[in-house]
Amino acid sequence: MAKAKNIFFCKECGFESSKWLGQCPGCKQWNTFVEEPVHKKSVSGGTLRGERAEPARLSQVSTTDKTRIHIGIGEFDRVLGGGIVEGSLVLVGGDPGIGKSTLLLQMCKHLVEQEKTVLYISGEESLRQIKMRAERLGEFKGELLLLSETNLDTVEQSIRSVQPKVVIIDSIQTMYKEEIGSAPGSVGQVRETTNTLLGIAKGLGISIFIVGHVTKEGMVAGPRVLEHMVDTVLYFEGDGNMTYRVLRAVKNRFGSTNEIGVFEMKDTGLREVTNPSEYMLEGMPEDESGSVVTCAIEGTRPIMVEAQALICQTNFNLPRRTAAGADYNRVNLLMAVIEKRLGMRMMDCDAYVNVAGGMRITEPALDLAIVAVILSSYRNRALPEKMLVFGEVGLTGEVRAVNQAEQRVAEAEKMGFRACILPKVNMKVISVSKIKLIGISNIKELLEYI
Ligand code: TYD
Ligand code: MG
Repeated sequence: MAKAKNIFFCKECGFESSKWLGQCPGCKQWNTFVEEPVHKKSVSGGTLRGERAEPARLSQVSTTDKTRIHIGIGEFDRVLGGGIVEGSLVLVGGDPGIGKSTLLLQMCKHLVEQEKTVLYISGEESLRQIKMRAERLGEFKGELLLLSETNLDTVEQSIRSVQPKVVIIDSIQTMYKEEIGSAPGSVGQVRETTNTLLGIAKGLGISIFIVGHVTKEGMVAGPRVLEHMVDTVLYFEGDGNMTYRVLRAVKNRFGSTNEIGVFEMKDTGLREVTNPSEYMLEGMPEDESGSVVTCAIEGTRPIMVEAQALICQTNFNLPRRTAAGADYNRVNLLMAVIEKRLGMRMMDCDAYVNVAGGMRITEPALDLAIVAVILSSYRNRALPEKMLVFGEVGLTGEVRAVNQAEQRVAEAEKMGFRACILPKVNMKVISVSKIKLIGISNIKELLEYI
């Protein structure tokens, strides 16, 4: 008998190699290679349903037949680009326990109310467990089809016989195909099962949602392996301790990426947060030092968040610095700019910077707010009430323009703010505003207001 051949896969990006490598040439990660038996590649390509095998003229291709199903959960529909596209394959990734199953079951609830045939396949939970979860979400006004199964061949048969509109696979890491030797959750299995599901989605015009757990360590193949195979990649994120969750589109063939939907986890399931700014600023301290409001753009929406800082004398040789919700290196850089350009001694200060509410902001527009909040805490003086601060800060202390300034100012206006400190260059694009606009070109000018 011929010896079974093994091949090495990167569990992050799926890069293949005939020998073990320390660093993956594909994604440059270290120690991600795992050994798995090779198997015959399944052929699941070919012509898509309803498409001809010969070339067509672009001008004659009609787009109107790609119908969308509106879920009825506004935040979810928007992230998908206006509803579920027929025959699309959607990956919903996220940490275990963040609420992926809850979100998708809630989607099922809305879909069955519209009399759509939906098949929910769980490889993780028994039918009773799903029922118990469904009961928390309220009464289902329609029939949902459930299947507790991990063998993909059985799953495929059920899908083909039921012919549902939408299928949920919870989760891809539990599905396996017998002919592939490796364990469920391994790169080979995850890739092959997704490939089969892709064939089903495109072949039968069924929309399939795949749940994928993201784990930093362990044997489970990261959903990044599948990102290029699916049409849409959504990440469901949030701080485990916080109740709010963000659904983010990182890839979408049928809509814009970086669109977000905000939800709040309640004991009766997820509730949409239609005004995230209001939610984020809830319980904000008034007239306190070390607290500044800024406005971030997430996808197409402006969201106002509170940045906080606590600056105090250090008792050690090396000051302690932490940054939650903001980039740690950026905070250090901004403190160096303050030290050098404003002549304040930051090196004997401990600094704790935090974006309240558990949001993570990576935009440069946060810079000026971080500088303002550090100065405010350092001087122990509060900024004027109802004041918004945003702008990018350069190494010489200059305040640089940011994108979509008008939108940020409009959001502040909507939230009843009275003033806004922003980059001077951005002033040109803002036509009229009810709130007082203070354009600055250097962080030195910020000192006047603190
Ligand atoms: P779940 O959807 O099982 O997470 P995932 O599928 O991403 O692993 O969500 C699990 C968490 O959500 C669990 O800690 C309980 C909580 N939860 C609520 O707070 N309210 C609810 O109505 C439901 C169904 C779950
Ligand atoms: Mg789950």
